[in-house]
Amino acid sequence: MNNWIDILDVSDIPRQGARVVRHGMVDVAVFRTADDAVFALEDRCPHKGGPLSQGIVHGRRVACPMHNWNVALDTGCALAPDEGCARALPVRVEAGRVWLDVGAIEAAAA
Ligand code: FES
Repeated sequence: MNNWIDILDVSDIPRQGARVVRHGMVDVAVFRTADDAVFALEDRCPHKGGPLSQGIVHGRRVACPMHNWNVALDTGCALAPDEGCARALPVRVEAGRVWLDVGAIEAAAA
């Protein structure tokens, strides 16, 4: 079930960077690209759980700070030849505010 919550202002996220929002036991990295697109991934690299929020955003990807895997911001999946996906969460921007759908997190915790 969807559960949209208002989490922060787009301007709170540095361009080509991320902010971490905690929901329950899950840290969510909310990314902002150079052209102001916003994406949300669980803050755990699919490789060994590194903090994707600490990575460098380039285009629609983030490079994990641990071992430099590239992860697609829209799907959360590592780019070939690497494999695996971080959980991607639906996110939208309305009037400069970022809304996150935490329904999947809550369903997994139930
Ligand atoms: S933990 Fe992210 S590349 Fe290894």
